[in-house]
Amino acid sequence: MARFDAVTADGHYVAVAADTICRGTHPRFDLFLHHRSDQHVLFVARDCEVDAAALDDALARGRPVLYVNRDDVAAYRSYVVENLDLVLSNPLTPRDRKGEIVYQSAGHLMAELIADASCAATCQRAIDVARHIVTVVSAIDAVESILSMIQFDYTTHTHSVNVCVYGLAFARFVGLSDPCVLGLLSTGLLLHDVGKSRVDPVVLNRSGPLTADEFAHIKTHARHGESLLCERRDVPKEAIFIVGQHHERCDGKGYPQGLGGREIHEYARLSAVMDVFDALTTRRPYKEALSTFEALRLMREDVGHHDERMLRTLVRMLAGNARLRPPASARPGTTPTVRARQ
Ligand SMILES: [Fe+2]
Ligand SMILES: [Fe+2]
Repeated sequence: MARFDAVTADGHYVAVAADTICRGTHPRFDLFLHHRSDQHVLFVARDCEVDAAALDDALARGRPVLYVNRDDVAAYRSYVVENLDLVLSNPLTPRDRKGEIVYQSAGHLMAELIADASCAATCQRAIDVARHIVTVVSAIDAVESILSMIQFDYTTHTHSVNVCVYGLAFARFVGLSDPCVLGLLSTGLLLHDVGKSRVDPVVLNRSGPLTADEFAHIKTHARHGESLLCERRDVPKEAIFIVGQHHERCDGKGYPQGLGGREIHEYARLSAVMDVFDALTTRRPYKEALSTFEALRLMREDVGHHDERMLRTLVRMLAGNARLRPPASARPGTTPTVRARQ
């Protein structure tokens, strides 16, 4: 079966999941079925209604994969985000699969936003998706199931979604259930690195060591993110605190303001813990992912960086997780020398 997002051998089509297409909607792109003769035949023409019976028939025939023209991938991704309420309300779609759909949609949106944060519509859609992440995380019973959504190859956009998922899992673990609080937390966590849209992509994506000037340039993202969101009236101030303060440290040695302890907003302290944890446990071209165990050990050794109470709670939250094991290659007494940039 074709992998979703995979381009066909002829380079013309991209595979998409049929469970992201909703009955009765009018996609602004053509949808195709794949035939054994290796041809793609039109299934739903652009702007025409998706026929419920035809979609059910395609699914019943074991065709969970549909295809869109390669040039229509952006339109397809926008369609999924616009119809997330419908996609998630389908009782036939398993809960884990719904989580996967929201995770991927959020990742695509964040990639768009990092490429151009000046687009108000994209920012609005990211805020809407943050709300859907709350819905999905709230509907999942076990923290371990929530964490199964996480991808371990670092990109700025998957990192943004991971930090959001970890933060919401944490909020649930400590019993936070107020939808309003979860909504603003989710928005701030998802958008915490939005200021990277103002960082030179060559510097941002460099896999080798950075010069002092380049590092100083990357550090500007906290201030940039804060000012980008301050321009909008619909972003709660707590979410803006997360964006502007997620690189502050409790010992006052962080940036951009060098705030310390309780001067840093509680949600920004939470964001800092999740930010570092995800940076350490994901793969990058210049470093392997650390195990949960190793990452938490390094974070606890970095005395003064994090809110101690939150770090202890994260350890408790992850204590029952299967990934909380030392990596096979780790030897007692060895400390990884490469630290991740956040
Ligand atoms: Fe950051
Ligand atoms: Fe980050």
